[in-house]
Amino acid sequence: MPSWDPAQYAKFGDHRLRPALDLIGRIPDIDPRRIADLGCGAGEITEMLAARWPGAEVVGLDSSPDMLKKSRALNGRAEYVESDVASWTALPPVDLLFSNACLQWLPDHARLFPRLVGQVAGGGVLAVQMPHNHDQPSHRIIQRLSDEAPFKGPLAGKLRHDPVDAPGIYWRMLKPITAKLDIWEVDYLQALAGDDPVLNWTMGTALRPVLDALDETLRSQFVEKYREGLRAAYPREADGSTLFPFRRLFILAAR
Ligand SMILES: C[S@@+](CC[C@H](N)C(=O)[O-])C[C@H]1O[C@@H](n2cnc3c(N)ncnc32)[C@H](O)[C@@H]1O
Repeated sequence: MPSWDPAQYAKFGDHRLRPALDLIGRIPDIDPRRIADLGCGAGEITEMLAARWPGAEVVGLDSSPDMLKKSRALNGRAEYVESDVASWTALPPVDLLFSNACLQWLPDHARLFPRLVGQVAGGGVLAVQMPHNHDQPSHRIIQRLSDEAPFKGPLAGKLRHDPVDAPGIYWRMLKPITAKLDIWEVDYLQALAGDDPVLNWTMGTALRPVLDALDETLRSQFVEKYREGLRAAYPREADGSTLFPFRRLFILAAR
């Protein structure tokens, strides 16, 4: 697991929030008694779930103490618990199992997703959003640089394989074990402002394992080469913004 920097992650709050709101908007009109938000991060979205279902007991789970510090500081209605989603079990099962932009950090989705469906009570819903963007230059440049000297040695075994699969794979996996299934993808055309905005974006997410693994000298060399590659792949538009297309996968599964 990479380290998390809540301030860096929050820099593109609006772009990161939108898919979560799109997902919440598609959740059917259920009346959940228990809600769990897996990988709740800084808690803003967890509190939105708590506001939408004021009668429900809401728990946000995250493995990062820094993120949990932020979520608890909201002084909202949800309870926040340090926990690893890989081994977490809902006791008893929850009526809404929600996860925004977290499950792409967990391996082996062929085991994970059926296990998560098993944590949802009858009549309940699993609602998931994950980035599905690892074939884009923002990720491919990291991969290419990590195969080159002098980074290859220190990064050996430190970068993970992204487990997010094609939508049809999830459909075939979940159809036999759910009552109703809706899977879709959205390409968000994100127009980002400022200098090196794609670098700033990935510093809060995909680049974190690299930043964690390299010493200060190699880290700044890596970031400079990455910055160069990103500037070529994502040139500025006439108005100064940078277009950063971003595909996200949504899964809504009712038991
Ligand atoms: C990209 S952030 C998303 C946070 C929040 N859901 C949101 O949409 O703003 C991913 C979060 O997942 C958490 N996370 C990643 N792997 C996890 C795991 N195995 N168990 C629990 N939390 C995890 C990270 O600590 C981080 O807070």
